Amino acid sequence: MRRHGGFRMSLSVILSRAQEGVGAPQVMVEVNLSGGLPNTFIVGLPEAAVREARDRVKVAIQNTAFEYPNRRVTVNLAPAELPKDGGRFDLAIALGILAAANQVPRKRLLDCEFLGELALSGELRPVVGVLPALLHAGKRRRRVVVPRANAAEAALVDGADVRVAESLAQVCAWLRGEGELPGPRDIDMPPLSEAPRVPDLADVRGQLQARRALEIAAAGGHHLLLIGPPGTGKTMLAERLPGILPPLGESEALEACAVRSVAGEAVDTAHWRRRAFRAPHHTASAAALVGGGSRPRPGEISLAHHGVLFLDELPEFERRVLEVLREPLESGRIVISRAARQSTFPAQFQLVAAMNPCPCGHAGDPSGRCRCTPDQIARYRGRLSGPLLDRIDLQVEVPRVPLTELTTPRGGSDEDSAGVRRRVEAARQHALMRAGRPNAEISTRELERDCALGERERVWLQQTLERLHLSARAYHRVLRVARTVADLDGAAACVRREHLAEALQLRRIDV
Ligand SMILES: Nc1ncnc2c1ncn2[C@@H]1O[C@H](COP(=O)(O)OP(=O)(O)O)[C@@H](O)[C@H]1O
Ligand SMILES: [Mg+2]
Repeated sequence: MRRHGGFRMSLSVILSRAQEGVGAPQVMVEVNLSGGLPNTFIVGLPEAAVREARDRVKVAIQNTAFEYPNRRVTVNLAPAELPKDGGRFDLAIALGILAAANQVPRKRLLDCEFLGELALSGELRPVVGVLPALLHAGKRRRRVVVPRANAAEAALVDGADVRVAESLAQVCAWLRGEGELPGPRDIDMPPLSEAPRVPDLADVRGQLQARRALEIAAAGGHHLLLIGPPGTGKTMLAERLPGILPPLGESEALEACAVRSVAGEAVDTAHWRRRAFRAPHHTASAAALVGGGSRPRPGEISLAHHGVLFLDELPEFERRVLEVLREPLESGRIVISRAARQSTFPAQFQLVAAMNPCPCGHAGDPSGRCRCTPDQIARYRGRLSGPLLDRIDLQVEVPRVPLTELTTPRGGSDEDSAGVRRRVEAARQHALMRAGRPNAEISTRELERDCALGERERVWLQQTLERLHLSARAYHRVLRVARTVADLDGAAACVRREHLAEALQLRRIDV
């Protein structure tokens, strides 16, 4: 405390973190008390947020049996240019005011970060983006105090010094040395609700080619389009892709959880290594799909990060919505621009799309019930842009299964997901050893290096592509898929003609 112009002046600084994309930039909350008319000014927040924060913090302090300073209170949130909306700074602001007024000791405030919104009662409310904030604070070796309601999420971060608190009163008692704050793993979590069962491939009858395509998609990380009439199991198959992919590694899982955290979605801590399966409806807006809003939130493609994005009835999606998928399909992330600000969210997802072969859904059905004209069919398929289809390595038909096949008991072909996953993991291992990435993600240069064909195979493929009038683009796609087929075959070194032939089979739309 020092004298300034005849008035007592007192300053405190509390650390917190903002949320921007999946980042958590540092914010310093500076509080100054000075003479002058009693009033509170908050600098660095949007106007509406200022009013709300001021009222919440003042009442919460009073209800925690402290005195709100009867002085001029100036709160500055620095740096100025970060997004700082929401109540996540309430706790830091309240502690700054109490510290500046010497109502709490400052010792434990140093090297500690605070996150939490205050209820008028002084209780702490959960905030979004706790996981990214903890990861960042951990790098600085700082302790972080978070609301108890965020404990489950906080418990995921290993090695971070995290304390959870229920109220401003509890935090202040701890600052005065009158008790400890528990760590997130010390407290009783509510009993976990039974996790939904991961759907298993054993439920799918027949559809051998589509099952095989799903396995290849999983092994190589290829995007997949399923084409067939309604009720043939396309949705069933798509839902079963996460179950045949290897579980997420720790850093992948943390990345995926960070997206859920900033989206304000509950993080299922018992199953946080499971891959996401997101299936937005075709009426979803571009913002819902790729993210957006005045305060940018991640969309479905980011919630599917390291998991599966399923777009059912692909041609029914608005073309404009599908166009925005192109950037993330290329780069694995999405940049959302709002006014002067840009937020980046990860969006490395595996796309599974499904569509009917024609508007009525029955084209090609042996019963001949399809009444669509060739023109209608062409227009329907034309709704999908070439550049989007170009990025989907696997495109297969899912025909109607004879009723007898659906009603007979499980046959030998209906292998369960665990068996398929073992082959997928082995094949992925080959790709990882070679290029460090699944085959779908390697460049054409790496592809040509890792997929060198023998002279006979090369000539055969060239002649076949010419006969089918396929482009150079198709050539690389066939090679890429053939590489995965060979990996599944355990053929680490060479891609043989049968691998190429199967890869060609799995691209019906070009042919
Ligand atoms: N190949 C199949 N094996 C087992 N059940 C199937 C199969 N195809 C369809 N079904 C049954 O029909 C229902 C609809 O399947 P669904 O996957 O939604 O079809 P689609 O997405 O192709 O319209 C499923 O819930 C399932 O009960
Ligand atoms: Mg369906």
